[in-house]
Amino acid sequence: MCGIVGYVGKREAAPILIDGLYELEYRGYDSVGIAVSNGKELKIIKKTGRVKEIEAARSERGNIGIGHTRWATHGDVTVENAHPHTYKNIALVHNGIVENARALKEELVSNGEIFYSDTDSEVIAHLIADGYRGDLLDAVIGACGKLIGSYALAVYCSDEPDALICARMRSPLIVGNAKDGLVVASDLSAVAEEGATLYSLDDGEFARLEGDEVTVCNAGKNAVVKEAMQFDLEEGKTKLDGYRHFMRKEIDEIPEILHHSMFNFEKNSCYSDFYRVLCQTEYIQIVACGTAYHSGLCAKVAIEKLCRVRVEVVVASEYRYSNPIVPKGTLLIAISQSGETADTLAAVRLAKRKGAYVAAVVNVKYSSLTRLADAVLYTHAGKEVAVAATKSFNAQLAVLYSIVGTLAAIEKKRAPTLRGLAQKTAKTISVSEEVRGWTPYFVGAKSAYFIGRGADMCAALEGSLKLKEISYLPSEGYAAGELKHGTLALIEPGTPVVAIITRRNTAEKTMNAVHEAYSRGARIFLVTSFAEYCEMDEVCASVLIPRCLPEFSPILSVVPLQMLAYYVALARGNDPDKPRNLAKSVTVE
Ligand code: G6P
Repeated sequence: MCGIVGYVGKREAAPILIDGLYELEYRGYDSVGIAVSNGKELKIIKKTGRVKEIEAARSERGNIGIGHTRWATHGDVTVENAHPHTYKNIALVHNGIVENARALKEELVSNGEIFYSDTDSEVIAHLIADGYRGDLLDAVIGACGKLIGSYALAVYCSDEPDALICARMRSPLIVGNAKDGLVVASDLSAVAEEGATLYSLDDGEFARLEGDEVTVCNAGKNAVVKEAMQFDLEEGKTKLDGYRHFMRKEIDEIPEILHHSMFNFEKNSCYSDFYRVLCQTEYIQIVACGTAYHSGLCAKVAIEKLCRVRVEVVVASEYRYSNPIVPKGTLLIAISQSGETADTLAAVRLAKRKGAYVAAVVNVKYSSLTRLADAVLYTHAGKEVAVAATKSFNAQLAVLYSIVGTLAAIEKKRAPTLRGLAQKTAKTISVSEEVRGWTPYFVGAKSAYFIGRGADMCAALEGSLKLKEISYLPSEGYAAGELKHGTLALIEPGTPVVAIITRRNTAEKTMNAVHEAYSRGARIFLVTSFAEYCEMDEVCASVLIPRCLPEFSPILSVVPLQMLAYYVALARGNDPDKPRNLAKSVTVE
């Protein structure tokens, strides 16, 4: 959610900022801006739209600058609301939300100060400029002391034109040494190529980037010694490699990722500690948002069925305000691709305060969640660029199903095998291309429905979310048995209904719902592992996927649904990688 990049050094800043912003664009893409200084003059270029809108600014001269790609929270998508924001001698870029911005702004306005944007970020520029007494670091520390909420900041001051000051509170920020200078960014990918030694700031830390040195301190100006991040340059690279879109490429990466996620499961450094907790736990809570929430639901089905351990799955934004009951010995599993989702982090902090042991199933190294959790189980999905999650969902399932396997053995139940799932997913991807033929039935539809039971219902929920995220077609995922309790009223001639059927003993029950929908004119599409259902007259089209343990089937059955969403989005003229209004990593509440 929003991206920050900054550079100070011997090279021209503008190209470094713009290249970095392209890498960050997946985090927010409604407006973009850079500020570049040549020591005498600060040039600000801001546009609504994507990074390409400021390509011409590449030629701006200057060795220091800051850049930002925005996902609007306060104020419309306008040039005025785009970052950098300036006031007097200050220019800054900000990620996060200042919760007390309104009160602060009222006070500043009553003092006669004028604002040009509707953003909370502009308030920070005023606070810093007002508090500036010849030391930018002091002014930034002073201003941050007045802020409630979250922020990652990169601040430039025309009175100290050789330095950038950075600050972090609940919004990620990386600083470090680059080839011929120093860098700051909200995401490793923006500076991985540039940075030889990078450090991830912690909450409440400030950094000064000047000369050839990054110095980090806390609010008391006590120096903090940081440990350099270990990262693999290849991992951070995001190339289309001949694909039209990252989403399609990322689906193709799934089989290999599953292999890595499962293979490395027991190699996580905290594994033995996690195993010890797993041996004792009688109750598991799962918190997550969006797609990660759906992988949590899939885990619940598998854990309860195969391990007979009770699991509760709660949307993180609900958990944090529900005064949750956290019995002694609770294992809380937080699932997050980014590891930065504000609601998930808040839920984890609350659960920890209430005594839970927190295990994180997370994709991004050095993310905030990795630092909060007692145990970190990495998903090894690599960088996911498309905003709508695909490969990270399957990778989360690979880790969660690995937990199921371990827990089943602990509970002396028959340990389910994960063997063959990666190969079966590869097969599923190839047969899923058939869903291209389904798109004409979805493109003009008013709405679409996805139904299933048990694990199939979880896949239905995720399939529906994918479709609405990138095709903007209203859709619902349902327990097949619930259709007749309301949603059936919405079925009209031609309404597409996708049924997922991978479990033998409930297949006929789901087919009952299919018949009910079909009799009202619905067009039926099947994702199933049973060939006989594909032949039925009611069925307009189907994808026959390989069989696996039904509790693990979403790892396969979701693939044709991901592909369906992709092709429907294309057919409706949308950019599947960057759906309107959404952001990859939602670092605000
Ligand atoms: C956003 C993304 C979703 C994602 C959700 C949770 O809404 O657009 O794709 O599932 O956040 O993100 P996380 O990083 O916590 O998995």
